[in-house]
Amino acid sequence: MDLSWVTTILFLIVIGLIIKYVLYMSSEHGVFKRLGIPSLTPIPVAGNFVREMRIGPLTFQEELYRKFHSEKAYGYYSCKTPILFIRDLDMIRDIAVKHFGTFVNRREFQIDEPLDHMLSMLKDDHWKNVRTTVSPTFSTGKLRRMFHHISSSARTLVEHLREKKDRDQAVELKHVVSCFTMDVIASTGFSVQINSLKEEKSDFVVKAKEIMDTAGRAIFATFFLPFMNKKWDKIGISVFPKGPLQFFSSFVDSALEARKEGANKGLSKTNDFLQLLLESEVENTADNDNMSTEEASELKMSTDRKPLSRTDIQGQAIIFLLAGYDTVSSVMSFTLFLLAENPDCCAKLQQEIDDKLGKRLPTYDNMQDMPYMDMCLNEAMRLYPPGFQLDRVCNQDIEIGGVHIPKGMTVSFPVFAIHRDPAIWTDPMTFNPERFSPENKSDRHPYAHLPFGQGPRNCIGMRLALLEIKVAMSAILQEMTPVTCSESVYPIRLKFFQMVSQDGLWVKMVDRIDF
Ligand code: HEM
Repeated sequence: MDLSWVTTILFLIVIGLIIKYVLYMSSEHGVFKRLGIPSLTPIPVAGNFVREMRIGPLTFQEELYRKFHSEKAYGYYSCKTPILFIRDLDMIRDIAVKHFGTFVNRREFQIDEPLDHMLSMLKDDHWKNVRTTVSPTFSTGKLRRMFHHISSSARTLVEHLREKKDRDQAVELKHVVSCFTMDVIASTGFSVQINSLKEEKSDFVVKAKEIMDTAGRAIFATFFLPFMNKKWDKIGISVFPKGPLQFFSSFVDSALEARKEGANKGLSKTNDFLQLLLESEVENTADNDNMSTEEASELKMSTDRKPLSRTDIQGQAIIFLLAGYDTVSSVMSFTLFLLAENPDCCAKLQQEIDDKLGKRLPTYDNMQDMPYMDMCLNEAMRLYPPGFQLDRVCNQDIEIGGVHIPKGMTVSFPVFAIHRDPAIWTDPMTFNPERFSPENKSDRHPYAHLPFGQGPRNCIGMRLALLEIKVAMSAILQEMTPVTCSESVYPIRLKFFQMVSQDGLWVKMVDRIDF
């Protein structure tokens, strides 16, 4: 056969495939026009993704929020996918709560097993079953039992900060606090005792960090190659690195087996997240020994549920790690930095801690009544919300607030832009915890502040997160004060793609007496 024919045919096939790809990726680009919803004009294939990537998702979100300031909802195209931003707070409430049944699921991402079994990724009845099973982990009774782990990790953190203070060295808060959160996750989730500040090379820490660092690849694959969804595995490509995932899957498997064996030999049970998952493998779980009334009733509520599969269990073990690591460390490190920048607020918080605790160690009960601490955390999460854009997928045609939302449409809440909207928050860039005093709160729309989301699909770990942060912050501020130093860069400049400070969050710790 003539070689030039082969080349021509191959060339035509390639051109044909490119045209097919362009048409496929642009096939949804007229949706908003058809629905009469204002939107950005898309370019073929990428939609508005190039602009989003060029200025970063945070600035992009604010840019659109300002551009469409008089609209309740507006659209843009994340490559092929139309995304409907909801600006109106009543509409957000209706989607998250009133019409939850129409908006149960989140947008699908390109991930492998067991990550696709994480609670945050699950859909419909599967999600409901796992959420009901996992919920009791965060009950008062369970949190009380986890408390000593949290308290012990907080003491390790305080010791580290004390050493830095004594040597007059600056500390980068995000790094130090991330080590604390890793220790809490390892102990409350898996009864693994580590000191990440000293053992950065521990397998648990290295593998956990590897999983967390690779989310970007999954997002790229989902956006640009949506037709490959769930097919990567079949052609032998792993979007997430296989090694760390296998490490955690086998870690969970062997821990579960060891515990089953222990239980057969009559050894006492461990109080951690993994134990709860283990009990959920068997129908009619848990003997109710030592269970609080609240826990017992929570479990009763969940008697209809099906036992979790081994992949479900692995998925939940990993989400416990992923969801609790960066979020908690980010909120706590931003709050401490903002307190260093605002010494009056810091002094007021220390006064509250002194009044409640004196020099005693924090307890579970006194952490429940720290109103000014709550105000400071809420204000820090207003300015720097880890979940800065939340989404839901519509499962049937519906009209909300006069906007027609078709089946299959992804709706998104622009949390970051809402949290900095000057029409809601006077002087929005100023750190002012008083915004969250009971009087000021009651003057505001309740959906103007969404750090943990809203409705049945909100953050399941909120109580654990706040407990961890409050215990560690109280233990630190009882003894020391964070102050700005020559390494501190403020106002904080955020990275393009993440809720992370570009310059780090550097402070020095000084003795309370020097304050
Ligand atoms: C300050 C720390 C945290 C913040 C700011 C935070 C924020 C959020 C937000 C905004 C969502 C989405 C809610 C929505 O779509 O309405 C979420 C979901 C979730 N969070 Fe958190 N989170 C934090 C800590 C934690 C911790 C410690 C855990 C577990 C140990 C956790 C587990 C989860 C899970 C499993 C989901 C998915 C829930 C579902 O789909 O049913 N989070 N979180």
